[in-house]
Amino acid sequence: MKLCFYLATKNKNKLKEIKNIMGDEIKVLLPPDFIEFPEEKGKTLKENAYLKAEYLSRYIKDYYIVGEDSGLFVEKLNGLPGINSAHFSGKRDDKGNIKKLLEEMKNYKKKEDRKARFITVACLIGKGEKRFFKGEVKGYITFSPRGKNGFGYDPIFEIPKIGKTFAELSLEEKNKISHRSKAFLKLKEYLIKRSF
Ligand code: IMP
Repeated sequence: MKLCFYLATKNKNKLKEIKNIMGDEIKVLLPPDFIEFPEEKGKTLKENAYLKAEYLSRYIKDYYIVGEDSGLFVEKLNGLPGINSAHFSGKRDDKGNIKKLLEEMKNYKKKEDRKARFITVACLIGKGEKRFFKGEVKGYITFSPRGKNGFGYDPIFEIPKIGKTFAELSLEEKNKISHRSKAFLKLKEYLIKRSF
């Protein structure tokens, strides 16, 4: 049987990115429609990634299950929004979150004061496994949103060498450098090696 795993998310953007990273080698399966994931209660990305996978494992047996949690960590804000990236403005709202973050950063006028990193942790469970894979990418918070692609904070996260935000990149271009692709390429390599 082809290698596969269930991805513990309802986020269509993450799903699209992860499917593209896995390519033809690994099939990404969706949770059944009736499943509603509870809001994450963990204190770290690692804990939340595990909690998502563990929740789905109550319904899906005998398959690998992968949970993932990501966040944006801004240096001058002591790592905020971090674990709370999805609800930074008080609710799950990308535009509101961006507005709030730009507001919090308004007194930091120099580029070097706007350093940030995106981090993803993926947790693989099932078939007696429990493993974590981490990916990280460094960048800067822009002064205003740029670009139409992607999701979340993509329009205000600029990649230093390219000078473009994630939202100005195609999905394939983002997947060459992103935090999520770094974590999921490690997971992919692990699963492929494991299958031999
Ligand atoms: P969660 O991992 O579903 O808890 O969500 C984390 C939040 O971080 C998302 O709602 C986005 O706002 C943000 N985020 C995570 N990954 C990305 C990304 O690749 N680009 C932009 N924002 C992201």
